[in-house]
Amino acid sequence: MIKENIQDAINKQINAELYSAYLYLSMGAYFASINLKGFANWMYVQAQEEQEHAMKFFNYLQERGGRVKLETIQAPPLNWESPYNVFEDVYQHEKRVTAMINTLVDLAQSEKDHATNNFLQWFVSEQVEEESNADEILQRLKLVKDTKAGLFMLDQKLGQRPAK
Ligand code: FEO
Repeated sequence: MIKENIQDAINKQINAELYSAYLYLSMGAYFASINLKGFANWMYVQAQEEQEHAMKFFNYLQERGGRVKLETIQAPPLNWESPYNVFEDVYQHEKRVTAMINTLVDLAQSEKDHATNNFLQWFVSEQVEEESNADEILQRLKLVKDTKAGLFMLDQKLGQRPAK
C-alpha cells in the first residue's frame, strides 16, 4: 500500500499533467486562430502526450493500491502576444514540471519508496526531452523574429509532427 503523502503528491501531479494538456490545447487553439496550423498540430500532439503522462501516474497509483482523486483543472490562458511568447511559456512551464518531478523524487527517496522512485525515473528522462524540445523551437523563433516567411517555414515543419 502506498503512503498517503506520496498518494497526495501523485494526485497533485495527475492534476498538473492534465493542466499541461489543457494549456497546450489552448495554445493550439491560439495558433489555429492565427492560421498557423502546423504550430497548432504540434500543440495538439503535445496535449495528447500530456494526457499519457497523466494516465501513467493514474495507472501507477492504482497499481500500488492507492486512490485516484481528480481535482478541478485550472483554466489556461486564452491568448498570447506572439508565437515566440507561447514557446517562452512552454519552456517555463516545462521547467516548473521538472521541478515538481524532482520534488516527487525527493519525497519517494526520503520515504524509502523504491518502487515510486524507480517509476519516476522515466519522468526524469522525459523532462530532459520536454525542456530540450521547447527550447529548440524557442531558439528557432528567436532567429525568425516573427517574420512571415520564417514562421511559414517553421509551421510546415511543426505540422509534420505525427499524432500519438
Ligand atoms: Fe508531462 Fe510536459 O510534462
